[in-house]
Amino acid sequence: MVIVFVLLALFAAGGLYSALAVRRYTVRSEKLSAPARLAVVSDLHAQRYGSGMRPLIRAIEAEKPDLVIFTGDLFSNFDHDAPVEELLRGLGGRWPCYYVTGNHECWSGDEGFLRKMAMLEENGVKKLSGALETVTAGGARFNVGGVDDPDAKRVCCAMGGYDGFAAQLDRVREGAENGLFTVFVAHRPEMIGEYAAKGFDLILCGHAHGGQWRIPGLLNGVFAPGQGLFPRYAGGLYERGGSTMIVSRGLLQCARGLPRFYNRPELVIVDIAPEKKEREKGTP
Ligand SMILES: [Fe+2]
Repeated sequence: MVIVFVLLALFAAGGLYSALAVRRYTVRSEKLSAPARLAVVSDLHAQRYGSGMRPLIRAIEAEKPDLVIFTGDLFSNFDHDAPVEELLRGLGGRWPCYYVTGNHECWSGDEGFLRKMAMLEENGVKKLSGALETVTAGGARFNVGGVDDPDAKRVCCAMGGYDGFAAQLDRVREGAENGLFTVFVAHRPEMIGEYAAKGFDLILCGHAHGGQWRIPGLLNGVFAPGQGLFPRYAGGLYERGGSTMIVSRGLLQCARGLPRFYNRPELVIVDIAPEKKEREKGTP
């Protein structure tokens, strides 16, 4: 009986351990001629990570990324932006930074939304609203494009020329016709079908928070917004057609006061690299 109790206590303690994790993926493509490293910051929800956000900034620094990509819900929809400002001051200007909105930025009202977007701009973070850029980083040349969260329609007045999710998606696809490896950034993973139909090579998303509660090897998430119970895209790497989607489990530690379970907040590192060429037959 005592042994059962001890084992249950150890299982619970392991599940509630919530130190920042670094999760790594490698995606290879013949379209790439050199490797590059992307640091993916997702669903921070203005969570504080120590004084000056230094533990998170140091974790990113240690990975020596070529680019930092924010996949939405960097802010909360409340007026609580100081941790984000500290993070952006620590990152902006040191690395090229790209951002797409999540639903929470779009739920901030016009005034709050504009204040958050101004903070991004002041710190040199580029907002991808149906835009695509060709970047050279780490010796690699590739595209980075992205779309606003579909809830951007709630702040369309503040956004000015918002022409809708579908139009943004089409603009990114048109930009990607240059044939380079394309990194596509959007907040919601459950729309994988729409992204993959456009033929993007790598899709980066967040939003699902890892389904908040997991049992590794048995259950990859209990609930995610937009997907409901036992979400298919709670976190990890997924293939659809010729596209690879990586879903970050995000950085917010507790949602609505509920702790995560076997679901540590994570900084995602994605190495993109040239496809390894198979040796020709007979080559020693
Ligand atoms: Fe979200």
